[in-house]
Amino acid sequence: MKLSRKLTLALILGILIVLAGNAAFRVRREIGLFESDSQKDSLLIGRMLAGAVARLWPSIGEEQVLDLVEDANQRESSVSIRFVWLDVGVGEPAGPAIDPASRGATRLPEGEIVVHATSGQEGVPVLYTYLPLDVPDGRRAAIEVRDTLDNQRTYVGRTIYQALLTTTLLVVLCGGVAMGLGVVLVGKPVALLIEQARSVGRGDLTRRLRLNQKDEIGELAAEMNAMCDLLATATEKAAREASDKIAALEQLRHADRLSTVGQLAAGIAHELGTPLNVVMGRAQLIVRDHEPESDTQKNGIIIFEQTKRMTAIIRQLLDFARRRDSRKAPEKLYALAQQTLSLVDSLARKASVRLNLRGDEDVRADVDSGQLQQALTNLVVNGIQAMPRGGEVTIEIGTRRVQPPRDHGGAEDDYLYLEVSDEGSGMTPDVEGRVFEPFFTTKPVGEGTGLGLSVTYGIAREHGGWIDVRTSPGKGSCFTIYFPELRH
Ligand SMILES: Nc1ncnc2c1ncn2[C@@H]1O[C@H](COP(=O)(O)OP(=O)(O)O)[C@@H](O)[C@H]1O
Ligand SMILES: [Mg+2]
Repeated sequence: MKLSRKLTLALILGILIVLAGNAAFRVRREIGLFESDSQKDSLLIGRMLAGAVARLWPSIGEEQVLDLVEDANQRESSVSIRFVWLDVGVGEPAGPAIDPASRGATRLPEGEIVVHATSGQEGVPVLYTYLPLDVPDGRRAAIEVRDTLDNQRTYVGRTIYQALLTTTLLVVLCGGVAMGLGVVLVGKPVALLIEQARSVGRGDLTRRLRLNQKDEIGELAAEMNAMCDLLATATEKAAREASDKIAALEQLRHADRLSTVGQLAAGIAHELGTPLNVVMGRAQLIVRDHEPESDTQKNGIIIFEQTKRMTAIIRQLLDFARRRDSRKAPEKLYALAQQTLSLVDSLARKASVRLNLRGDEDVRADVDSGQLQQALTNLVVNGIQAMPRGGEVTIEIGTRRVQPPRDHGGAEDDYLYLEVSDEGSGMTPDVEGRVFEPFFTTKPVGEGTGLGLSVTYGIAREHGGWIDVRTSPGKGSCFTIYFPELRH
């Protein structure tokens, strides 16, 4: 059963017990008062009449006295009065209506006898009062006063009716008020609390209770809200930690792959370096020792050129593999970018690509200038290669407020950036997801090694930063290296 209903029932029960007790007490008291009143009346009338009869009997005689009594009876409407002979049998016309010595009769100190009886089928209570008389011829007589307590029944009935009415009204009124208050103060808020507990159980921690009660239920709701806040924070923290862990693992795997590839590459480069030098030396000899423009010399030149290319690739591999300590110093980024652009200028011109440089000219950062130039070169060359029909590659330098990626960590802050954007082919999401993998390339064999971006990635990391890519197929790409500001 609901709490408010239980409380209401308890209240109604309490009211019923108190009112019923009170009504019973009142009824008993009224009956008592009524009876003692009636008894007093009967005694008063009876005594007066008995006195008169005793005094007048010797002078006026029996007949006149009986007339007198009958006369008094006629006058008195509330009671009936008779002269009775006590030596005549009970129930006879001249005898008493009931036996004055019957059980339950009370003899008063002055000799009067009071008997309570009931009459008729409905059991109307009747009060008989006998006032003994001394009559001259020595017989025993009495004045009988009979008072039906009919009014008493009506009176008690009315009292009971009143008590019932009051009780019903009180029960309805108090019950209604208690029920209403119970629903408003207990029922509804508790239903809300239950709903809140259920939604927490389902894992929804966003709901909050709004109860304006300043009682225990209000306190409970506030506690529940506080609990939800704590739970939400804890859940969020756990989720963040889990995803940070995954990101860290991913980064470790990447670093591991880079170092394995680096070791392999270093080994191969080392093994190939000497033979390639020998081949290149011999090719030079062939070129020198043969007729200019002869077939043999042309072949010698081709061998020399191709071997040179191989040596260049191997140098790149060694660059990637070499883990030399970076030598950082405060440098002006703009000047560094300018130098880089001058290096790739001829390549750009050949591909009809215009190179732009813009942004803050004075911004300085603690960087290894060689590494940073290498990173920038890789990005610019990629940009040029992505535009076979020409276009523009733009380098922008500045400071920007950003939130570092998960695997880097840290709070939102101002970071320096070097941004290289082109108007080239762009990348599909597939390619975009793999560009930093070592040896991942989409370029034809001989043109791309797939190392440029993994080297750039490593350089960004070494500078305490990260690299970000935005691209849309057919429209171009934008690579941004972020690193911390110089703080002194
Ligand atoms: N600016 C760019 N526009 C389009 N694709 C790019 C760009 N930069 C890099 N890529 C893609 O990323 C791949 C890897 O680049 P990178 O690591 O520099 O190796 P490589 O240039 O030797 O292929 C490229 O083959 C190309 O598919
Ligand atoms: Mg490249």
